[in-house]
Amino acid sequence: MNILAELENETTATAPAGLPPAAALTQILFGKQVAFCLSAAARLGVADYMSAEPVQVGYLAERVAAHAPALYRVMRLLASADVFEEHPGQSFALTPISELLKSDAPGSFRHLASMWSDEWSVAAYGRLAECVRTGQDGVTLAYGRNAFDLFESHPEWAENFQRAMTSYSSVTAAAILKAYDFSEIQCLADVGGGRGKLLGSILKQYPQMRGVLFDLPNVVSGAQGAGHLAEVQDRARTESGSFFERVPAHCDAYILKHIIHDWDDQRCRTILSLIREQLPPHGRVLVCEMVVPQEPGPAPAKALDIEMLVCTCGGKERTADEFTQLFASAGLRLVRILPTETPVCVIEARPA
Ligand SMILES: C[S@@+](CC[C@H](N)C(=O)[O-])C[C@H]1O[C@@H](n2cnc3c(N)ncnc32)[C@H](O)[C@@H]1O
Repeated sequence: MNILAELENETTATAPAGLPPAAALTQILFGKQVAFCLSAAARLGVADYMSAEPVQVGYLAERVAAHAPALYRVMRLLASADVFEEHPGQSFALTPISELLKSDAPGSFRHLASMWSDEWSVAAYGRLAECVRTGQDGVTLAYGRNAFDLFESHPEWAENFQRAMTSYSSVTAAAILKAYDFSEIQCLADVGGGRGKLLGSILKQYPQMRGVLFDLPNVVSGAQGAGHLAEVQDRARTESGSFFERVPAHCDAYILKHIIHDWDDQRCRTILSLIREQLPPHGRVLVCEMVVPQEPGPAPAKALDIEMLVCTCGGKERTADEFTQLFASAGLRLVRILPTETPVCVIEARPA
């Protein structure tokens, strides 16, 4: 067989997805254009001016102060990925996917998608190979400080991050409430609870429960304005501080959603040990995170794990075994992992 024939043979061999290898790779790499277009459309707020009825791109460009021909190219690519629906005459309509880009959609992805192209995130991902070489996170490599420290001097990035977390939280909060019975809890502390979306939802459903929202001072100060605790303010209080130094006292349950995955094992042990010191014998710790499956194959936890690699100092998604070991190192015992309708699970631990 001559070299050309061998080459042809190689390029026509099919990849697992059923595509020739070069086409499969091209498709994977062009995911960048789709993700960035999605992020730009979210940032511009295009979906807020759309419905299931098609509208012309010129109208949308006027509404969001965009360059119509450029916006058309972005919308056309997104329509090819089923984000929008393309109609004749450069018109587009929302699909169930892009409904979630509307600012007021329950569980809106607008801020999360927009955050994908925030300067800090792009700069951090540009350092991924260096992250892999050194084990350091991309934010520190790019800016010399971790993301939470960086946000202190960039309120616009902090704002987008908090909004992204809050809206993503509303989907997961509903799923957590459906999956877990909180009825025996007297007082629940939401450690690193952001602006109180999860705590507010739980307190609303359990009128006998009291709650404490705990987060950094600059975050807790925004909780009142966010209004998630407004309906339950007689039973909710806020405390600010660092969970590496202390956690609220006098609670029989501590919930941590998307906190443990932000940190390395040693720092997680510090947080969990501080909680363990406060925990009564019948108390419980509820960690709400994705759990990485042992099996090969696609899983959202594996993608989120890379976000943790790039954007946090040692943070990662963990397997069930890793959670078991982490809890044990802080005097806790993993008792069960409850799946929810979303990729997030409720991982319950009790005093060992
Ligand atoms: C990924 S967000 C999760 C927020 C919220 N639990 C949720 O799921 O929407 C991480 C949270 O940890 C908070 N945080 C970071 N470092 C902290 C610290 N040292 N002490 C207390 N909170 C901290 C951040 O302000 C942020 O609200």
